[in-house]
Amino acid sequence: MNGPTTSISSALRGKRMLAPMVRIGTLPMRLLAKDYGADYVYGPEIVDKRIIGCDRIVNELLGTVDFVKKGVLNFRCLPSEKPHLVFQLGTADPDLAVQAAKTVAQDVAYVDVNCGCPKRFSLQGGMGAALLYEPDKLIKILTNLVENAGVPITCKIRMLEEKDATLALVERIINTGISALAVHCRTRDMRPTDPGKWEIWHAIAERFGDRIPIIANGDIFEGDDMDRAFEIPGIASVMLARSAQSNPSVFRHPEPRLPIDDVIRQYICYAIKYDSIYQNAKYVLMQMDHDMKSDRGKKLASAKSLRTIAELWGVEAEHDQLMTEREARRVALLAKKATAVTVEDENVSGSKRPASPTPLERVPTTAQSDALGHIDWNKDGGVESECPYIPNAPYIPKKRKTDAGDGVAVDPVVRNVPNGEPAATSATPAPSQP
Ligand SMILES: Cc1cc2nc3c(=O)[nH]c(=O)nc-3n(C[C@H](O)[C@H](O)[C@H](O)COP(=O)(O)O)c2cc1C
Repeated sequence: MNGPTTSISSALRGKRMLAPMVRIGTLPMRLLAKDYGADYVYGPEIVDKRIIGCDRIVNELLGTVDFVKKGVLNFRCLPSEKPHLVFQLGTADPDLAVQAAKTVAQDVAYVDVNCGCPKRFSLQGGMGAALLYEPDKLIKILTNLVENAGVPITCKIRMLEEKDATLALVERIINTGISALAVHCRTRDMRPTDPGKWEIWHAIAERFGDRIPIIANGDIFEGDDMDRAFEIPGIASVMLARSAQSNPSVFRHPEPRLPIDDVIRQYICYAIKYDSIYQNAKYVLMQMDHDMKSDRGKKLASAKSLRTIAELWGVEAEHDQLMTEREARRVALLAKKATAVTVEDENVSGSKRPASPTPLERVPTTAQSDALGHIDWNKDGGVESECPYIPNAPYIPKKRKTDAGDGVAVDPVVRNVPNGEPAATSATPAPSQP
């Protein structure tokens, strides 16, 4: 039996966490949650095969680290996020899990295994909550990760129907040597609207809270709820999903939440700065706590560029400034690289020849995305695989080719349209509850 990774385990006490949320937990939301006081921020669940084989590319233009495969951006993070960033993995295979974790290990604080997703895609693939009912497989996955991934491992579970069975499973999970356990206080078959059963936290935390940080998740909506959860003996940390989705300034507690429009403006600026695709920004904003039936809400629903979205919240000047700055940086970087390559070429061959493609050119952003290829979601496991939490609302409509949701605009609709409206429209899925 392995012992937990002590340093991260002790760091995971007394913390507030942004829960993993597909489509929501991309870079702008993570930055915002952190600004407002979240201690750890989870990215959206990413399935092992999607991250395995990605090139890790330092995007000098944006200052990000991008994980790109076949021209598609699958995950984007900032180096400064590393101490508090959690990569959440969807997996059903011990070896693929390790390969996936190794791919991101150097850029994250720890890797979390999703053992709670109740959606059809996950269950059919033996992932998410299916692992709770195949404990031998789950234990193999966790053990292999703990022993071989080179990064601390945690997992996030739902409770089983019976308390004793839940406790027995938790004991086995903890014995693998994982660093923390997040417990969503619902069973696989409970609806998000069914009241969460906080009593399971009491039972788990009482029994295991001194061995490992237990992270409470489910129905923590207000600051007061965070306080109450922390009062449960043995509960180490709290994790919020839907309340943070509505207004991430909930993490400011005991300070009051900020007015949602202030939060949205900041979100939009991060989305622009880190080159989110407008579809993702729009989706996230549509989940926030404002009136979608208002004139502005309706305009948001039909917006087709970040510029339009920025106008709706009066930050178009910030948009233009950020784009101007980025373009200046791009030109400066290209000039620098061209000089460097020319000098190098002269040294090698004694004659000048055109600069070869640089990483900067290979990973362009909205303004220069020609070099990026596309993905056929149907070939890659199906759209639903990318959005297990949003049934009936495919992440990207089938046959449409776009990025994987983390920001780089490879959508042919958007690309080559640096600052303005795209030439054509594309559908954005309607929001729905997971
Ligand atoms: C939009 C959305 C996406 C979610 N995506 C994930 C995910 O990728 N991985 C995961 O483990 N849970 C996911 N969940 C579940 C949440 O992390 C959390 O367990 C659940 O919503 C209960 O917490 P809450 O009551 O604070 O919302 C998602 C929830 C929502 C609302």
